[in-house]
Amino acid sequence: MIKSVIIGLGDIAPVHLAAIASYGGAALAAACDTDPARQKILPPGTPFFTDYRAMLNEVRPDVVHITLPHYLHYPVAKEAAEAGFNVFAEKPLALNYADGLEYAKLEEKTGVKICICLQNRLNATSEKLREILLSDAYGKITGVRGLVAWKRAKQYYDDKPWRALMAKAGGGNMINQALHTLDLMQYFAGAKPKQLRGIIGQLLDYGIEVEDTAAAFIEFENGVTGLFNGSNANAADVPAEIEVICEKATFTIRYQTLYRRDSGGETRLAEDAGSGPGKAVYGNSHEKLIARFYQVLETGSGEYIHPADALPVTWLIEAIRESGLSGKTVRF
Ligand SMILES: NC(=O)c1ccc[n+]([C@@H]2O[C@H](COP(=O)([O-])OP(=O)(O)OC[C@H]3O[C@@H](n4cnc5c(N)ncnc54)[C@H](O)[C@@H]3O)[C@@H](O)[C@H]2O)c1
Repeated sequence: MIKSVIIGLGDIAPVHLAAIASYGGAALAAACDTDPARQKILPPGTPFFTDYRAMLNEVRPDVVHITLPHYLHYPVAKEAAEAGFNVFAEKPLALNYADGLEYAKLEEKTGVKICICLQNRLNATSEKLREILLSDAYGKITGVRGLVAWKRAKQYYDDKPWRALMAKAGGGNMINQALHTLDLMQYFAGAKPKQLRGIIGQLLDYGIEVEDTAAAFIEFENGVTGLFNGSNANAADVPAEIEVICEKATFTIRYQTLYRRDSGGETRLAEDAGSGPGKAVYGNSHEKLIARFYQVLETGSGEYIHPADALPVTWLIEAIRESGLSGKTVRF
């Protein structure tokens, strides 16, 4: 039986708790939040701590879920890994690329396993599209496009002030809302970014430090180009849209459904399963990724998403900001 613990009992925590509960061979051994009021989301009787170090020392878990504000991801993962605990950590990898590079060395340095929650790579639509792209059946990929149009009202930042601060969140729309879409653009493009130009800003007058809107033109090493648009100024959360243009067909994921458009018209290819306990736009692949990682912990083999896999998107976010501030092309 895998002994799991979780640090951070905020908005995303119920999604992790549900995934732990639904995995046959795992049990929640304890949970931690600095705010004792958050205990209310736990199953009755769950041991609760306000200090994660005390929890880790006492419980000695098999895996630590990190569902904390962004600035705590890398330091807490580092501490847990160095103490010998496996880690399942929420996105983003880290506040910046330099910390990301250190994070990517942790598995080898410590011998523990660390999975980063880029769960949308496991959506049925993403898996199907990736399989098609790797088959080369539709010719070379020429471009990828990502659109994230969500609504984040002022209340969203007022409720959790860390989300509005550069030092604690590392950014806004890109690192918090559009990260999965930027990650999938790179994943589908199939190569590392080479260079980009970006724009960042605030369309909403909320007095926040982080960007609520961003756009970028990205060039990947294999010649694929990327167009990204992200904003939290939409009237509602609309599922993120991704398009991949190949020589012989164009693939689109919209409203969580994958379509192929070619000379024969439009064909529906796959659909994501309904959402779990989180917001509908999150999808339900948290459960799938957590189960996959737990199987690796049990059997010692299998695929999961390593910290190094999250490096390209970490760079993209930082480079779009840098380009947006300088007005210049940023090279990898
Ligand atoms: N993968 C996804 O699709 C997805 C979706 C939503 C959120 N997230 C990520 O999940 C993370 C958490 O987001 P959220 O919206 O739940 O944030 P949140 O602010 O609602 O929750 C964070 C919790 O951590 C607690 N906390 C802060 N410092 C602590 C410490 N030192 N020790 C213990 N607890 C501490 C806070 O009290 C709070 O309850 C973020 O990284 C976010 O980007 C990922």
